[in-house]
Amino acid sequence: MTFSRSIKIAPSILSADFANFGAECRAVEAQGADWVHVDVMDGHFVPNITFGPATCAAIRPHIKGVMDVHLMIAPADPYIEAFAASGADIITAHLEAGPHIHRTLQAIRGAGARAGLALNPGTGIDAVEHLLDMVDLICVMTVNPGFGGQKFIHSQLDKIRRLRAMIGDRPVHIEIDGGVTVETAPLVAAAGADVLVAGSAVFKGGSVQDPEPYGENIRAIRTAAEAATGRMA
Ligand code: DX5
Ligand code: ZN
Repeated sequence: MTFSRSIKIAPSILSADFANFGAECRAVEAQGADWVHVDVMDGHFVPNITFGPATCAAIRPHIKGVMDVHLMIAPADPYIEAFAASGADIITAHLEAGPHIHRTLQAIRGAGARAGLALNPGTGIDAVEHLLDMVDLICVMTVNPGFGGQKFIHSQLDKIRRLRAMIGDRPVHIEIDGGVTVETAPLVAAAGADVLVAGSAVFKGGSVQDPEPYGENIRAIRTAAEAATGRMA
């Protein structure tokens, strides 16, 4: 993974056909996805359950590029090794998931993955200052985590701008997760985000049998985001 601030679209397979993850991953990549975003939920940290490291390992061979694993689980630490062994390129843990995020981020890098730090909409950014040199990505949740298809929370735009200033020249991605659409993509890109997770906005209208709508959706989100930043991939 070479670092770049160009816009990257990361479809979330939370909106894919759960009985067909392998084919869905291949389809979104063939349709222009840069990364594949994988949402792990435990029914405890968030009020929904998805899957664990065995599913991540099963889909890994179907993803040529970056497998971006978002852990919405508490505690996270006992499972870091298993998610790293599943082939995750990036493992993102929540600041709110336990008292020792510093240790969690150390464990992620120690296991050989890139380390991501996710912030819920109600979480401030003061603590991030002390973690900046330990992270490869900061994920700003623009919905409360747990479900796809929720409405974008506009108050997070100021958080994105402040994080972008705080990061400066460090090679740290800003990822946005939740409610990304053609309408909201330009707002987050202009505020400083470079990785745009999108679930419902990418998978709508398409299927493994008819994946072209995935490509149209990805291109529309990317074009809207790039127009807002002036950056072209
Ligand atoms: C929410 C997940 C997101 C979700 C985004 O808890 O972390 O990745 O799938 O879905 P949309 O794009 O539909 O808001
Ligand atoms: Zn996510």
